Amino acid sequence: MLTWVMGVREYGLHESSIVPLLRSLEYMHTASLIFDDLPTQDNASTRRGRSTLHHVHNSATAELTGLFLIQKAIGEQSSLNRFDAATVLRLIQYSAEKAEDMCMGQAMDLNSKGKALTLEQLNMICFYKTGIAFEAALVMPAILAQVKEPEMAALKKFAYHAGIAFQIKDDLLDFEGNHLILGKPAGQDVRNNNSTFVSILGDEGAKKAMWEHYCLATDALNEMPKPIPFLRHLLDYLVGRER
Ligand code: IPE
Ligand code: MG
Ligand code: MG
Ligand code: MG
Repeated sequence: MLTWVMGVREYGLHESSIVPLLRSLEYMHTASLIFDDLPTQDNASTRRGRSTLHHVHNSATAELTGLFLIQKAIGEQSSLNRFDAATVLRLIQYSAEKAEDMCMGQAMDLNSKGKALTLEQLNMICFYKTGIAFEAALVMPAILAQVKEPEMAALKKFAYHAGIAFQIKDDLLDFEGNHLILGKPAGQDVRNNNSTFVSILGDEGAKKAMWEHYCLATDALNEMPKPIPFLRHLLDYLVGRER
């Protein structure tokens, strides 16, 4: 949705021309969740209110589906044939870098179990495992629309802070949320001994950090050449959501 609104509404790209991009992001995001839920990672039994893929089938099927979706994503990106080739190559290169970053974030997250992280380490892990997906959803349509550097930098700054605010809210919901509303198990982080904003800062400290990132994301929006009300509303939704 984020990519659709930015691409079609903000940058005036034709909806039909960016469908392959929308599909590719959805595939990559779903793949990241399939991997994240595996017994070797967060070992989650439900996602989006349904049994996880490895529960319905098995880990091998889930791993292969994740890889399959990532390849499909690249296939989609390479069929963005209404844009010039150099621009599409730039997009594919950016996408590959971000997929690498996300793997690194997941690895850092899993390696941090039970460790007392500094705030700086926590922010870094959060950005790599989660913030990157927000950045990609914003930057990819901007690449296709040939958006200039200052706006690109503001988009990235927004994604950084909005992404961390999103993950802090995710940690808070894991801590105090209801699994029936969440559509995924609550209390997973405590069970897995994960290092999260809540385990490191406590729930009050985590809330304070979330609002700090909210304010910094708002600052980034004020640095955009023109106001983008959708992103402002999105930010409010991220910190206010119950699932
Ligand atoms: C997930 O972070 C990050 C990625 C899937 C890349 P979490 O592990 O906290 O996400 P949930 O709580 O399972 O949705
Ligand atoms: Mg995880
Ligand atoms: Mg998880
Ligand atoms: Mg979580």
